[in-house]
Amino acid sequence: MHIFEQIGPLEEYLNSCREDALSIALVPTMGGLHEGHLKLIDKANECSDMVVVSVFVNPTQFAENEDFESYPKTLSEDKKLLEAIKVDAMFVPLDNEIYPDGSSQDYDVGEMGNILCGISRPIHFNGVAQVVARLFDIVKPDYSVFGEKDYQQLLMINSLVERLGIKTTIVSVPTVRESDGLAMSTRNNYLSPEDRTNAPLFYHQLVATKEAIQSGTDISSATEQAVDALSTVFDVEYVKVLNANNLTQITTSSREIIIISAVRLSEIRLIDNIVFRRSNV
Ligand code: PAJ
Repeated sequence: MHIFEQIGPLEEYLNSCREDALSIALVPTMGGLHEGHLKLIDKANECSDMVVVSVFVNPTQFAENEDFESYPKTLSEDKKLLEAIKVDAMFVPLDNEIYPDGSSQDYDVGEMGNILCGISRPIHFNGVAQVVARLFDIVKPDYSVFGEKDYQQLLMINSLVERLGIKTTIVSVPTVRESDGLAMSTRNNYLSPEDRTNAPLFYHQLVATKEAIQSGTDISSATEQAVDALSTVFDVEYVKVLNANNLTQITTSSREIIIISAVRLSEIRLIDNIVFRRSNV
């Protein structure tokens, strides 16, 4: 595996791959790699000849009161994990490679950036758009792979690519879970042993809400029940049942439904979602 810290040598390497007619897939990450990330890399390998994994804890997507400073930095473990599988290049840029002279471009992330997670994290999606657009510009990937766990992020990136006419195909991978149902996340490492025991109740409740909707409970009662049940264990930021295609209110004709939620457990923020098809529509 080649490791690059600077854009110049990475571009030179990727240009020579392109001259050999090799296709390139990019998997952007912030490190702290786990099996969820590795599934994205498997998918990237299925799509493409070459796989580039970026590891960059992007400062512009964290607000001042968030965990940028304490975000797990596990570069040597990450390298070992990637060396054990097929990854052609790891890109570990320094801040000034991504944002020369501290500059970063603002993006209009539209309504998608202002709802759900965008309410409690108002600068977050603009920061994600900044780094992802920059990585697309540097790597020029044929395919870019993202996880459905960060569903709002995935839709925001889809619309960014469409709006800016970026030539990459976005590929998504279903959420990878621990055996008890908890969605894998770098931030799960912050949970105390007791909170880790309770955390799977989040996903279990989303499953129960899905089952209630499928057996005819109306959306608003199902949502209310979910908030009540989750509130016994978590601080609930939001639980919404929406059209999965665009995160708007569902109508009688919406078929693809998402139950999407953010909660906190002792200040650790967890997000999760379930997408399903309404059978009676
Ligand atoms: P990070 O949280 O490191 O996640 C990197 C990618 O892995 C994202 O596409 C995310 O959705 C995916 N992922 C994380 N946990 C997953 C799981 N349990 N199952 C499936 N996919 C999972 O998301 C980011 O970093 C950043 O915002 C980034 C896009 C890199 C921009 O800085």
